[in-house]
Amino acid sequence: MPMSTPNIVAGSGSRDVQPVEYRRIYVWELPVRAYHWINAITLVALCVTGYLIGAPIRAFYAAEAYQQYWFGWVRFIHFLAAFIYVFNFLARLYWGFVGNKYSHWNAFFPLKKAQRQEIVDVIKADVFETKMHGPISTGHNALAGFIYFGTFLAFAFQTITGFALYSSMSNSWLPRMFTWIVPLMGGDSGVRFWHHTFLWFFVTFVIVHVYLAFYHDYIEGRGTVSSIIGGWKFEREKSGK
Ligand code: HEM
Ligand code: HEM
Repeated sequence: MPMSTPNIVAGSGSRDVQPVEYRRIYVWELPVRAYHWINAITLVALCVTGYLIGAPIRAFYAAEAYQQYWFGWVRFIHFLAAFIYVFNFLARLYWGFVGNKYSHWNAFFPLKKAQRQEIVDVIKADVFETKMHGPISTGHNALAGFIYFGTFLAFAFQTITGFALYSSMSNSWLPRMFTWIVPLMGGDSGVRFWHHTFLWFFVTFVIVHVYLAFYHDYIEGRGTVSSIIGGWKFEREKSGK
């Protein structure tokens, strides 16, 4: 439903108010939003517990190992979060085929000339800050979509190396499917090295991603951050920006 919103003209000094027509668009369906927040919570849990597995904090140790079980809990949370994270990820892969056009796989690849131009515009706005913004996609901008695809590849890599590590500790069919990865990566220490290294990819991604979500919310003024909670974004009626 169109809404009339006062628009404050930036830099005018006098805070001129001009009416602008906005319409609401339902962009992120419930499965995408649920995926997003389950993924965010489990990923943070995996990063924190993974870090502790790689570098256990000595101060937490009691005099004798049998006197406490904190490291057991850390590993338990890592494995529990891992299973939730993997099945949540598989659900999102499926939704890329059946979801709306904003969550569809087509939104992740800059195959059209306009999408490649949008990548240049977004780099100018986000990195060089030489442009406020060009025409804005309603869903992911073309650069964000492409980076999310890269992130999905990293999710898949972490799943494969995680289950490869788990295969030496479990007899169940799922981890056992990944046993062959271990010799391919030069043994258990090789898998562990890569699984640990990717932790830092996720830490970097999350910091930049959260900053950019708020930055785009600010420069575009279309409710970017609230859209990943409620699903709706706003678009100007005439210009579509
Ligand atoms: C994005 C997600 C994940 C992150 C950031 C992450 C991070 C880590 C880190 C940093 C370690 C310590 C490696 C070391 O230095 O020894 C670790 C260990 C481990 N992770 Fe993950 N992990 C993730 C997902 C998974 C998944 C999906 C599984 C699948 C079951 C998994 C299974 C394991 C196992 C089995 C270990 C070794 C535990 C041990 O030796 O006690 N991880 N993880
Ligand atoms: C561990 C933390 C997080 C991870 C791993 C993460 C990951 C992602 C991924 C993979 C997407 C693409 C969604 C899809 O198409 O399926 C996405 C979108 C989005 N995320 Fe996050 N996210 C995290 C935290 C946050 C937080 C804290 C906020 C804001 C407060 C946020 C705001 C958004 C927004 C607004 C979008 C849609 C952006 C767009 O239009 O391109 N995220 N996030």
